[in-house]
Amino acid sequence: MSDKKKLVFSGVQPTGNLHLGNLLGAIKNFVSLQKEMECIYCVVDLHAITVMQDPKKLKENILETTASFLASGLDSDKSIIFNQSSVSGHAELAWILNCVARLGWLNRMTQFKDKAGSDKEKASVGLYIYPNLMAADILLYKATHVPVGADQKQHLELCRDIAQKFNNDFSCENFFPLPEPLIQKNISRVMSLRDGTKKMSKSEDSDYSRINLKDTADEISKKVKKAKTDSLPIPETEKELEKRLEALNLLNIYSEITNKSLKEVLKEMSGKDFSYFKNKLSEVLVDSVCPIGKKIKELMSDKVYLQKVLIKGKEKASKKAEENLKKIREIVGLL
Ligand code: TRP
Repeated sequence: MSDKKKLVFSGVQPTGNLHLGNLLGAIKNFVSLQKEMECIYCVVDLHAITVMQDPKKLKENILETTASFLASGLDSDKSIIFNQSSVSGHAELAWILNCVARLGWLNRMTQFKDKAGSDKEKASVGLYIYPNLMAADILLYKATHVPVGADQKQHLELCRDIAQKFNNDFSCENFFPLPEPLIQKNISRVMSLRDGTKKMSKSEDSDYSRINLKDTADEISKKVKKAKTDSLPIPETEKELEKRLEALNLLNIYSEITNKSLKEVLKEMSGKDFSYFKNKLSEVLVDSVCPIGKKIKELMSDKVYLQKVLIKGKEKASKKAEENLKKIREIVGLL
């Protein structure tokens, strides 16, 4: 049933070459949410430039991420699909929120510590205040629900703190709703095919660590064949998978793609060896990922169309953003 008061916002960085982790951890969820609620999905290009990007590649990646959204089933008539920098309100609200958020709050962000690495002095200021921009993305539309991976939970909590402080400081109770995270239960993290302790990521050196949405059927089955497992057969219970991270990851992927619970998958597969299971996994992956990859390639050959989709989204997003910004400027006392 459609609920008009709920509003979903989420963002994906235009890194290019989206993979199975992006699909199962985020986009698949976006597609099912768009059936129930009003949704805004943003290609967050301003977030991407917190680390140096090749300008030509960035443009291409913005379009490719848009193509991946559409190819995975997002519908630009139902949902608002646009790129962040096309609506200047994101940057404007981010500045205002920079003045609301406290240094101490940002100092606690674990993702900054991870991304900045050992030489924090050399990280961009943008990378440090990235969570404030993320809060601005969400609050600019007064979004109520935010589908994110588990790694973004801390940023969303910060967003709630910022919203609350703004509402208190400017005595405008309930002006910004406190957004709720929608974290997928089963598989908020798809892990690397080579190391079950690491998230599947575009930045891991080996391409064998991930299934890319544009991989061919051949590449997918090769990667699945080579995926790390262990020598034990597939167990009967989830408990027995606790220390078998690679096995658990593959079974989770199978469960997610086939829309079966892990329990059901274990019932189907227990006692079988991995070569049997991997054949099945390859089949379902090829069936679900290859059509998406094909569609991405098709869409990328019509960039004018993709740009039109983004412009349509920008127009719809700007209208909402401007209405809220007008009130925000008034509340803060800007003329
Ligand atoms: N920081 C998010 C990520 O890296 C992307 C993002 C930016 C986002 N703005 C957002 C996610 C707003 C949800 C809502 O995954």
